[in-house]
Amino acid sequence: MFLEMFSPKTVRVASIPCLYYFLGILPFSHFLFLQIHAFNLDADKPVIYSGPERSYFGFSIDFYLPGNGTPYLVVGAPKAQTEQVNVTEGGAVFLCPWAVGGSPCVLIPFDTEGNRNLNLALESMKDYKSNQWFGATVKADKDKLLACAPLYHWKYVTRYMVEKTSGLTPVGTCLIALQNFSSYAEYSPCRSTTVVINESKPIPSDRRYCEAGWSSEITKDGDIVLGAPVCYFGQGLIATTNIEQIVQTDQRKSPEAIISQQRQSTDAKGSKDNSYEEFLVGAPGQNDTKGSVIIMNSTNIKAIHNIIGEQVASYFGSAVAVLDINNDGRDDIVVGAPLYIIHSPDGQLHEVGRVYIYLQDQPGQFRQPQKLTGTYRFGRYGNALGNLGDLNRDGFNDVAVGAPFAGEDGNGRVYIYTGHASGLDQKPRQELMGPWASDSGSARFGFSLRGGSDIDANEYPGDV
Ligand SMILES: *[C@@H]1O[C@H](CO)[C@@H](O)[C@H](O)[C@H]1NC(C)=O
Ligand SMILES: *[C@@H]1O[C@H](CO)[C@@H](O)[C@H](O)[C@H]1NC(C)=O
Ligand SMILES: *[C@@H]1O[C@H](CO)[C@@H](O)[C@H](O)[C@H]1NC(C)=O
Ligand SMILES: *[C@@H]1O[C@H](CO)[C@@H](O)[C@H](O)[C@H]1NC(C)=O
Ligand SMILES: *[C@@H]1O[C@H](CO)[C@@H](O)[C@H](O)[C@H]1NC(C)=O
Repeated sequence: MFLEMFSPKTVRVASIPCLYYFLGILPFSHFLFLQIHAFNLDADKPVIYSGPERSYFGFSIDFYLPGNGTPYLVVGAPKAQTEQVNVTEGGAVFLCPWAVGGSPCVLIPFDTEGNRNLNLALESMKDYKSNQWFGATVKADKDKLLACAPLYHWKYVTRYMVEKTSGLTPVGTCLIALQNFSSYAEYSPCRSTTVVINESKPIPSDRRYCEAGWSSEITKDGDIVLGAPVCYFGQGLIATTNIEQIVQTDQRKSPEAIISQQRQSTDAKGSKDNSYEEFLVGAPGQNDTKGSVIIMNSTNIKAIHNIIGEQVASYFGSAVAVLDINNDGRDDIVVGAPLYIIHSPDGQLHEVGRVYIYLQDQPGQFRQPQKLTGTYRFGRYGNALGNLGDLNRDGFNDVAVGAPFAGEDGNGRVYIYTGHASGLDQKPRQELMGPWASDSGSARFGFSLRGGSDIDANEYPGDV
């Protein structure tokens, strides 16, 4: 019964590199209404983008469609070196105009300052932006752009009576660009003035380690939703609030300020966000490293259903997608295991990666999975999964599978699979090549996938 709520209205999904869990959020696809007539993924004329060396350019991608009709790609490069004073590899986000032949990407000036260091009479606050992974997630919606730094650290000290500190902890933070990049706001739901006296004594609802922003979403109502793994206690947390509140509170000027209407999945009942009933958590390290995908009740963070991986150390659950593939009104689950190993006919072992498709036949009951297997050694097939919507307009949703190191050149491939009544086609309909030059080192094409937007405004959804 519970999985009915999983239907396209309440989909949220996963993928966060954290010690125990991968937790995330995915919006439901509302692109089925587009006038889509045929494929228009121009694999012969790929748009070429590249970023700074070893910046992990392409770790996250989204489409940005501001009012003026020019489509852009927004690309996160979480290891990029910026010009922020005393910040090492803070990460950056680039804006790339969508144009045939490619156009230079420009850095979005989300944050040009170094670390803040506020020293007041009885308290002080300092942030640590080095290695914060800014751009680990990027999300665009109309003229709004959200980018997060889940490994942003913060330290709070109070000298009231005796000196106490929060310690230096990875609370994570996100920045929002508004009004055509003329204004910015910050949202850091876990940053607080919580202090500790004895670090080995757990504090109830301690969020100091929550790493907010490993996943993020902007909802249709203009709410920001952040997924935080809360590694410290192995619990997941989803924090959400409205952009208006974020702008009003202005955490850029008052970093310790709490946004008044913030809601959190782990809060006591009464403040529950009704639009988040269940979410899917991929836990690639669980069950003797076979990995698992857990459907969780977001109210009490308890497992409702657990799908265990097939092979140890295959990283089953490192990518997850939820979508209704066979158009029966129930959400289906697609899971990637990018380190899956096959025995080849010559008796050798090849790490090629595998993708599993679980069709939900009855509420909460899944069919034996369909399996799709990668073809390139060490290609990481299944490292990223994308819901493309109904690309070819046959009534069934289609799926993209990313393999960031596939191909003879190792530059990555993206495969497009079409859906039908019994799952996905066994063979990809289309194979897209990595557009980056082979010497760029950090190509990682296919590392993250987004889809379903009509990117070139020609009534066909594009893909990256
Ligand atoms: C989720 O947890 C809440 C609170 O414990 C409970 O009321 C609700 O029935 C649970 N939902 C499911 C589907 O188990
Ligand atoms: C940068 O770091 C140096 C050395 O720690 C310090 O002296 C300087 O004040 C810092 N600059 C800023 C703007 O924080
Ligand atoms: C946004 O700003 C850029 C440059 O500042 C300008 O070229 C563009 O027309 C603006 N877009 C809108 C929708 O105002
Ligand atoms: C800190 O808490 C732990 C666990 O409760 C306890 O064993 C330890 O003695 C405490 N240390 C101090 C300095 O109070
Ligand atoms: C998988 O791991 C979870 C969490 O540790 C545990 O509850 C579950 O029983 C395990 N399942 C199997 C089949 O080992």
